[in-house]
Amino acid sequence: MEIKELTKEYFDKVAHLAIISISDLPYYNHKGKSSSISEFRIEKLEEKLVSENDKIFVAVEENNLLGCVRNVLDEDTLFIAWIFTDYRHRNKGFAKELLNRTIEFAKEKTCHKVWCDTRTNNKESIAFFTKMGFQNIAELKNHWYGLDYYILEKVI
Ligand SMILES: CC(C)(COP(=O)(O)OP(=O)(O)OC[C@H]1O[C@@H](n2cnc3c(N)ncnc32)[C@H](O)[C@@H]1OP(=O)(O)O)[C@@H](O)C(=O)NCCC(=O)NCCS
Repeated sequence: MEIKELTKEYFDKVAHLAIISISDLPYYNHKGKSSSISEFRIEKLEEKLVSENDKIFVAVEENNLLGCVRNVLDEDTLFIAWIFTDYRHRNKGFAKELLNRTIEFAKEKTCHKVWCDTRTNNKESIAFFTKMGFQNIAELKNHWYGLDYYILEKVI
């Protein structure tokens, strides 16, 4: 398995994996899912590829996409907008590798922290980020699309 920066050859696979990874999640409503999935449409990926503040990494093995992380540089911090791995390949360390590459990138860009949000009932996501050393620093109730979120951070 290799962690790579997103290139055009993976656009279709990323868009597809985003759909299957996000649409079945029980933690979001229809609007939340549509909005998240739309960020991985090919046109959006094209924009992010040339944007200075966006950075997407993919986990690949023999041309198969195993996972993806979408990051946004934000005023000396790095926001992890989405991270997902193929449901057939969970608990194999692929998200951890994607996150480690993200942290390395954040350090290269002299960020002092990485942070993300998660739905307050997304137990897999909370378990993952807690294991990776993130701390829960805030709760946003009735926030994006009327849902409750935690904000998690890791100072790097
Ligand atoms: C959260 C998610 C990305 C984790 O991916 P993953 O590839 O299974 O995670 P990893 O195998 O790299 O796990 C890394 C560590 O987190 C722990 N972990 C991951 N998922 C866990 C779970 N559901 N319960 C408990 N611990 C978990 C692993 O045990 C591992 O710990 P270790 O290093 O001590 O062995 C994956 O469940 C997912 O894609 N969920 C759907 C999308 C989502 O909700 N994304 C987060 C919101 S942005």
